Amino acid sequence: MKITAVIPAAGSGERFGGKKQLKRMGNRPLLFHTLQAFVRLVLINEIVVVVQKEDVRQIERELKSIISSKQIKVVAGGTTRQISVHNGLTVAHESSELICVHDAVRPFVTEALIEKAVNACSEHDGVIVAQPSTDTIKKVMDDQILETLPREIIWRAQTPQVFSKSALREALELAEAENIQGTDEASLLERIGYQVGYVEGSSLNMKITTEEDWIFAETIYNSLKND
Ligand code: CTP
Ligand code: MG
Repeated sequence: MKITAVIPAAGSGERFGGKKQLKRMGNRPLLFHTLQAFVRLVLINEIVVVVQKEDVRQIERELKSIISSKQIKVVAGGTTRQISVHNGLTVAHESSELICVHDAVRPFVTEALIEKAVNACSEHDGVIVAQPSTDTIKKVMDDQILETLPREIIWRAQTPQVFSKSALREALELAEAENIQGTDEASLLERIGYQVGYVEGSSLNMKITTEEDWIFAETIYNSLKND
């Protein structure tokens, strides 16, 4: 089964204060580190990186000069992550049956984690990587706690998220038509009745959202590098 990885990297990093996906970690843009596992993993047939329109040519050039073993398409994203993922999906090769979406800002994804999600896909319309919550989650309103959610059933969604291409396309098209914004792709499939499974991820597969996250990420980067 052919698989296209779609890497949304077209955000503006408002909470971070800049395009974190292009900030250098070591001497490479963060995006480059994220791509490594997808480049190495043989079961990924094609990689589509979605960046802001103004960055397409430069990133294309830079990726070509450092990665030669796998074809990488670079396309322009949109104003929301959903549109960016949709733009990536549009250029996926027609023979691709699965789409593996992964945030450009989760640089420590491993080949094993991608493979685990892909393998679980045979039993579902899609599979996401998630982690059981170690925090107790509260539902709040204004300055008050409304409810404490039972921790045993709370999982925190990460990426990779792998979907049947046709199901993901349908979910994105319907969300657009109904003006619905999901915070991840899985939620768009769930809402229209598709079965999405999950596999357990790792806290090393963190997402860099804020400047504080960058400090954690650099620590992880340095300790993995020295392994
Ligand atoms: N993303 C994208 N297109 C957008 C918005 C986000 O491709 N219009 C990508 C980001 O580049 C990132 C991933 O989606 O790799 C996760 O998004 P997030 O962490 O929210 O990044 P930003 O949207 O850039 O940050 P912020 O929400 O703070 O502005
Ligand atoms: Mg965002």
